[in-house]
Amino acid sequence: MQTIIEPFRIKSVEPIYFNTVEERTALLKEAHHNLFLLKAKDVLIDLLTDSGTSAMSSAQWAGIMKGDESYAGSESYFHFEEKIQTITGMPYVIPTHQGRAAEKILFSILGGKNKYVLSNTLFDTTRANIEYSGAQGIDLLCDEGKDTSLVANFKGNLNIQALQEQINVLGSENITMVVLTVTNNSGGGQPVSMANIRAVRAICKAHNILFYLDACRFAENAYFIKTREDGYADKSILTIAQEMFSYADGCTMSAKKDAFANMGGFLALRDEALTKQCRNLLVITEGFPTYGGLAGRDLEAIAIGLDEIMEESYLHYRIRSMEYLCNKLHDADVPVMRPAGGHAVYLDAKKFLPHIPVHEYPGQALACALYLHGGIRSVEIGSFMFGKYNVFGNLIPATHELVRLAIPRRVYTQSHIDYVAEVILEVFQQKEKIKGLQIIEEAELLRHFTAKLIQLN
Ligand code: F0G
Repeated sequence: MQTIIEPFRIKSVEPIYFNTVEERTALLKEAHHNLFLLKAKDVLIDLLTDSGTSAMSSAQWAGIMKGDESYAGSESYFHFEEKIQTITGMPYVIPTHQGRAAEKILFSILGGKNKYVLSNTLFDTTRANIEYSGAQGIDLLCDEGKDTSLVANFKGNLNIQALQEQINVLGSENITMVVLTVTNNSGGGQPVSMANIRAVRAICKAHNILFYLDACRFAENAYFIKTREDGYADKSILTIAQEMFSYADGCTMSAKKDAFANMGGFLALRDEALTKQCRNLLVITEGFPTYGGLAGRDLEAIAIGLDEIMEESYLHYRIRSMEYLCNKLHDADVPVMRPAGGHAVYLDAKKFLPHIPVHEYPGQALACALYLHGGIRSVEIGSFMFGKYNVFGNLIPATHELVRLAIPRRVYTQSHIDYVAEVILEVFQQKEKIKGLQIIEEAELLRHFTAKLIQLN
């Protein structure tokens, strides 16, 4: 088989600055063992997130120059609106400065005390916005998704039986909505099948419950459906995406992922009355309805990016590069989540560092070790990010202790990825030397962004 090459040429480059292990040791200490607190220039390969970190195309940069910056009725807005209407089939489109702003608006209106939002897995900002409104989020991931080493096609699926049971227990009138996150970021970037989307839709319809998609990575999800689900091999990504959205009442989207944009997001809806309420909030928090939280040039870049993301040569290369890294690690017995997700490769820190107990945050310890050893920045998705405390102040751990290596879109080449694999293998060979961490300062919500930690001896 021929090598699957990057389906682009590079026209503009950014330098990477090299530093030493000694320098990184000091930098990590200054950053309190929290990689969010590092300066980006001190990172060699930045796999913290695939969000807002994409390389834009020449067409998108041209769009940036064409952006119409009119306050009201900008041409770029209509381009943006039309593209989203085509993909989602939803008539009402609300631009926001990023995904969480769309979530904030939606849950400010539909959330509130004694309400519940059910999901395959809520992303952390979504959960935070739900909880901030007084409502509660409940994850109902399928059993296959909970086993990090089990190879299955759609590990992002929602557990349909659990959904039915929760509806019986909580009462449909108390359930604000069901949200399917596609792909399931916090659950390993694993896809949700069309059959699962359809089944959720049927239950929601039967109980008169709203059904939304958190659609940040809809194109990657559509590609998985095309390549893994019966009946979709000959359908275009657009057709598959349109079917996915056709079952939903609305969606939130961070355009910083599957729209190749450095900033942006939107809320798309079918309900006119709810749209009016959302737009009222939009005007006081984000901006006028035809720009929301965005400049005209951003709207233009998103509209173009939404087309480019659905190109099959791109998605083929994208998903294949995740598999490439995942397989390299798996072949060397490194515990990775399998199969590879759509935007990231996840290390299983509990298995990687069995000598570090969960209350000493093995995921964060591993992420710090990758930075120290090779200048790679990753992110912990485990008890540091999601852990809570019980009434006695003891940690209630997250289900998994993962380290996510999120791959920015169109940014790194295969040799960068080979280097990443080498660093991980070297760290794996010396894993016993890695020590646990203790949190010494933390915020109440989304603590992982700012918390300070110290290394235990
Ligand atoms: N939903 C999902 C599934 C996400 O992955 C994100 C962001 C959001 C919502 C919020 O979007 O950042 O534009 O406000 N995920 C980023 C990440 C931050 O690193 O996975 P946002």
